[in-house]
Amino acid sequence: MRSRYLNQLTTPYLFGAVTDQVERHPNPVNLGVGDVSLPLPSCIVEQLQEQAALFGTETGFKGYGPEHGLSSLREKIAKTFYPMLSADEIFISDGAKTDIGRLQFLFDPSITIALQNPTYPTYKEAAILSGKTSFIDLPTLPSNNFFPQDLPKADLYIICSPHNPTGHALTRAQLQHLIDTARQHKSFILFDAAYASFIQDPNLVKTPYELEGAEEVVIEINSFSKLIGFTGLRLSWTVVPKKLHFRDGQSVHRDWSRLVSTYYNGTSRLTQAAGHAALSQEGLQAIHQYMQIYRQQAQSLKQALSPYFDKIYGAEHAPYLWIAASPSYFERMGIITIKGEGFGSHGQGFVRLSALGSSYTIQEAIRRCSQFANLSLT
Ligand code: MLT
Repeated sequence: MRSRYLNQLTTPYLFGAVTDQVERHPNPVNLGVGDVSLPLPSCIVEQLQEQAALFGTETGFKGYGPEHGLSSLREKIAKTFYPMLSADEIFISDGAKTDIGRLQFLFDPSITIALQNPTYPTYKEAAILSGKTSFIDLPTLPSNNFFPQDLPKADLYIICSPHNPTGHALTRAQLQHLIDTARQHKSFILFDAAYASFIQDPNLVKTPYELEGAEEVVIEINSFSKLIGFTGLRLSWTVVPKKLHFRDGQSVHRDWSRLVSTYYNGTSRLTQAAGHAALSQEGLQAIHQYMQIYRQQAQSLKQALSPYFDKIYGAEHAPYLWIAASPSYFERMGIITIKGEGFGSHGQGFVRLSALGSSYTIQEAIRRCSQFANLSLT
């Protein structure tokens, strides 16, 4: 018998529909799905080649790795991003999306989940597929500075910051309020920080663990995808602090370790070696350059579009622009965007543009917009 939950999924999946749209268009400019375009830095390519060559030798060949990830990479991630945590609180995986799905199995179907609206569609779909039925909206709108002050009681808050699709990064005060609320209710926060590397403002935090009490309530998901262009390689990590406990006192860390062992035989050793190279000194420099380039692209796009739209959000701490506009405005120019309601009902009246395309794509989008505006004036 087919799973009853499958009927509740939107068909097709949001990003699949956008990819189809790009393929059907004769001359598209793709600002739709947020896929990276810059090639991998040479230190990563060299590491991949070296490791692949070792696999072809009797002494260098290796089979299964530890299902929780190579301890050297777990240590490197802890040291680079989470000096307050230990390496065994970091779990390596093959993509944030994969873990967003698997993490649902930690929680009973009876729980109530609070979700930003609009938000990345996988959170709710993964919850539905694991039998969850009770959801609360957290309206995420310009009028509430993209975060509701009155947080409802929930068992699990699924939060993305910097936020996909609006680009808003939670302020320290907003994040602390969220953490305090979760502590008060003995709830958890699933915190997707996939865009944290775009944050430049020193007043903002890159990880909730910098704030008081976060280790008691936050599971963080993060990834090399947007950090350094691993959307094709696939490498991510999930942080599960040992201080996290369910209401009955059971350890979340122990349960997650156990659950991963059932579902996973570990991320490719080659990809993990590439992750190591990404966090070397040369890799970190490349990350810095990547971020500068994408931020610059987001800013150029925002600047070029600002004469035509009153309300453009984002582009500061994330590679997305969130514009109060109709998708048809862009469709007429062959510019592919994602309609706001694809991310939830409160996204209606908005479109999301990704600035992660190549510099040619961004320049061509800017050229078409200005050409179209000039034509409309004549
Ligand atoms: C997006 O376009 O929102 C994402 O990059 C796609 C994804 O991560 O699945």
